[in-house]
Amino acid sequence: MKLNEKVALVTGSSGGIGQGIAIRLAQEGAKVVVNYRSNPEGAEQTLKAINEIGGNCLMADGFCDRDRGYSIGADLGMVDDVRRLVAESIEHFGTIDILVNNAGIEKHSDFWDITEQDFDAVMNINFKGVFFATQFFVKHQIDTGKNRASIINISSVHEELPFPHFTTYCASKGAVKMMMRNLAVELGRLGITINNVAPGAIETPINQQLLNNPAQLQPLLKNIPLGRLGKPDDIAAVVAFLASDDARYITGSTVVVDGGLLWNYQEQ
Ligand code: BGC
Repeated sequence: MKLNEKVALVTGSSGGIGQGIAIRLAQEGAKVVVNYRSNPEGAEQTLKAINEIGGNCLMADGFCDRDRGYSIGADLGMVDDVRRLVAESIEHFGTIDILVNNAGIEKHSDFWDITEQDFDAVMNINFKGVFFATQFFVKHQIDTGKNRASIINISSVHEELPFPHFTTYCASKGAVKMMMRNLAVELGRLGITINNVAPGAIETPINQQLLNNPAQLQPLLKNIPLGRLGKPDDIAAVVAFLASDDARYITGSTVVVDGGLLWNYQEQ
């Protein structure tokens, strides 16, 4: 297992990609802090799946460590919540080695109709939350004097690719891209790596409306060279790799996990 002895905090892990990541990191041996904002039932499901993995129960002395997952409610859009989330994670498991900034939302709107409220909601969760979760995590690494930790941001193909009617979403992901590149330089000497994973179209609640609408789904599928939507575990597998020591020399990169969507332009 790649992540034995590691502790991971996965924001927004009560469903979708975050849930897939939390479970996958636990399968690789990590202890995992699950975070939710509005869906405690989803967080319970994630936790149940983590505890069922029970890898440590196979230990020869019969010792069974059921405490592999822990869940915390916190709104990533509020800095006080983010501070508490990181502090409580550290208090519970003693440390955190892996931060997965996954929580995110999107709002569909014509540019000229975007309200200040929607602008703030998207930017606060998708960018401000990532920024301060990362800052509190980095301060913890400095305090502990450890020389290895990893940060993985779940960005989007839309850190590069325009997505009309989702300008706030694209702007937030572009901001996370530049934050990641900047920090790769600034945090390198602390032994902290930081990378983005950029999913394409993945089967999750965030695009439920699209999944339920064949007229929208068919043209999208035609744009994906691998011919299908992604699944949360397609993303989680890459996150597990980036969090592991196999990826110790990778920092400042975006790994696009999109079935080829980003570079597929076709004359119709
Ligand atoms: C968005 C989805 C969209 C996908 C592909 C993701 O970042 O959250 O709504 O379907 O990109 O465009």
